[in-house]
Order: sequence, then structure tokens, then C-alpha cells
Amino acid sequence: MRKIVAIYPGSFDPPTNGHLDLIERGSQIFDELVVAILRNPEKEALFTLGERRRMLEALTRPWPNVRVDTFTGLLVDYAVGQKAQVVLRGIRAISDYEYELQMALMNRKLQPQLETVFMMPAEAYSYLSSRLVKEVAHLGGDVRELVPPLVAGQLKQRMRRVQAASFRPSAPGSGEAMNSARRGRADGRGRPGQRGWRADRRAEARQALGTKKK
Ligand code: PNS
Repeated sequence: MRKIVAIYPGSFDPPTNGHLDLIERGSQIFDELVVAILRNPEKEALFTLGERRRMLEALTRPWPNVRVDTFTGLLVDYAVGQKAQVVLRGIRAISDYEYELQMALMNRKLQPQLETVFMMPAEAYSYLSSRLVKEVAHLGGDVRELVPPLVAGQLKQRMRRVQAASFRPSAPGSGEAMNSARRGRADGRGRPGQRGWRADRRAEARQALGTKKK
């Protein structure tokens, strides 16, 4: 009988309980499930590719038919290289549907042999996203019920570093220090209340969280 290989692609920055729920469901249906982390140099991530890979490798150890990999370029090309027949994606709410449908149809246009299969995570995770987890952690909220303990620990450490960094003078010569210097600040970062200070701090937080300007 033909072996069905499925790719579960994503950014996984960081992996959440919702991702793990989907991995478990996928591992029960497909013969082999490849959790594929997108290598995207254009998108700032909170965790490096290596960190995300190591976290996912540790978290998926209970499932022998699951492996973790990284990819770059078109998902369909990667899937063909892996001899996969299926792309697995999670749909949480109707709001996910439009974007997911567009991606699935574009992938079908590019590679008609590849089928996208949508699965729903457990209801308890239907509001969960990596972006919100990062925001909650950044603002000091408790994420222990949203991510596995391994990820919660790493998030805590990373947020401490991000916060410490945002109160340290910038390295001389950095873009931020140069902008601040242009504004005439002695320490390269200025003080609260000075023109541009809040915008600079917000830009740092966005960079650290891998989010875009709203
Ligand atoms: O976890 P995410 O960020 O929602 O995952 C998005 C991902 C990685 C599945 C998507 O961005 C992707 O497949 N990127 C690879 C590039 C590609 O194939 N683009 C065309 C998709 S229609």
C-alpha cells in the first residue's frame, strides 16, 4: 500500500499547544508527518530557526512518524522533494478560512497533485496563535496553559533578554544609535518624553516580537 506523507508547514514562532494538537492529529492519520519550518529571512522572528527546530524536535519526540525539517522557497517544490502528497494546515475559526483557501488554491494551481487537508485543533485552542502568545508573554502575562512547558521557559528567558536589551544603550554605530545621535542624545537612546523615544521603543518591541507596524 502507498505510504502517505504529509507536510505541516509554518513559522512556529513559537510552537503552541494548538500546533502540537494538530501534529498529534496528523500523526494519527498520515504515515509520515514532516513539520516544516519556513526559513524566511524577510520576517523577523523571536526565536531563531535553530531554536524553533530544537524545540519542535523535543516536543515531537513522542511520535515516531513525525520529523522536523526546515525549508525555503515554494512550499510545493519542497513537498515534491519530500515525495509528499498532502499539505496539512490548521483552521481555527472562519477568519482563517479566506487566507487558507487562497493558499491552498494557489498551491493546487502550482502543483495539482498536492492536496491540502485542513484539520481543526481542539476547541480549547481555537483562539490561540503564536502572535498572541508572544504579545501576552511580552506584556508579562501567563502563557503556561497556551504553550508546552519547554516553550514557556524559553519565552520567559527571551522576554527577559528583550526587556533588558530595550533598557540598554544601543551599540555604537547601530542604526538606532545613529538616529538617536542625530536627535542629539548622549546615551544613544534618549529619555522617555524626548521626541521619538516612544516610537523607538515600539520599533524595538516590534522587532523583538517579529510583528509588523500597525
Ligand atoms: O505559520 P504560518 O506563518 O501561517 O505559515 C505560512 C506558510 C509557511 C505555510 C506559508 O507562508 C508558505 O507556504 N510559505 C512558503 C512560500 C510559498 O510557497 N508561498 C506560496 C504559498 S501560496
